[in-house]
Amino acid sequence: IRHLLSGADLDAASATLILDTAAEMASVSGREIKKLPALRGRTVVNLFYEDSTRTRISFEAAAKRLSADVINFSAKGSSVSKGESLKDTALTLQAMGADAVVIRHPASGAPHRLANWVDGSVVNAGDGTHEHPTQALLDAYTMRARLGRIAGLHVVIVGDVLHSRVARSNVQLLATLGAKVTLVGPPTLIPVDWASRAGAGTPAAPPPGEPGGGTPVTDVSYDLDSVLPTADVVMMLRVQRERMAASYFPSAREYARRYGLDGPRLRRLPEHAVVMHPGPMNRGMEISPEVADSPRSTIVEQVANGVSVRMAVLYLLLGGSR
Ligand code: CP
Repeated sequence: IRHLLSGADLDAASATLILDTAAEMASVSGREIKKLPALRGRTVVNLFYEDSTRTRISFEAAAKRLSADVINFSAKGSSVSKGESLKDTALTLQAMGADAVVIRHPASGAPHRLANWVDGSVVNAGDGTHEHPTQALLDAYTMRARLGRIAGLHVVIVGDVLHSRVARSNVQLLATLGAKVTLVGPPTLIPVDWASRAGAGTPAAPPPGEPGGGTPVTDVSYDLDSVLPTADVVMMLRVQRERMAASYFPSAREYARRYGLDGPRLRRLPEHAVVMHPGPMNRGMEISPEVADSPRSTIVEQVANGVSVRMAVLYLLLGGSR
């Protein structure tokens, strides 16, 4: 594939290739010589219109470990503040020789538009409430590293699903890789189309192995305690207040009581189950500090794995040679 815009761009074989390549990249990163010459002479532009800590830094680290030249562009402090459009910004970057553009943008669909305007590869680093495919890949990598497989796992995704590009990409990718997903959250924070499928499984999907295919069994529950005993993975989502009207803000205490993962709920999980969070966290709201810092939590591993996964994505998209 030329671009990575959505979890649905990946069939089982291409997703597995990325995860396997990431595992090789991780073994290189652990050695004394951390840098590979694979992308020497190539230019990766990080085009960020929205704040980021993990994604921006890990794409930069990934590109540098592959010896690419990296240009970091933040909309703040650029000519975007003078009204320059995404298209004109993209054409400017292309004129400077970008081989790949990694874009984060508050508008859903912005990476897809960008892909029509530039010759190089486009990687979606999070677009509005739509998708965040490299986050789903690093999550899948982390599950496989901790639990040895993805197919057949029961992954419970909890919280503000409505505003979560992480959830959307995970649902796509996990279905393709054969996991069962249950979405849990307050009714106001579960998308209506997914809520209407509660208990019915996902309707007509492409055949296993096809993009967006697999055997998706996306279920919906509003009762966190009832699903915890069968979970292999609990993925907590950040409550995205910045995407909600103030009148919709849930009370932190009430939210934590019904949907927060705390010590007593952690003890309801099977012994092998792990807890994930894409970050940044609202500690004390969707996840308690005790859980976030527990050995069952993979949160720091997810960040480390993100570098290897993004190395794999850049390497595979850019072909490793001119
Ligand atoms: N998980 C994630 O996308 O984090 P950042 O917003 O810090 O990049």
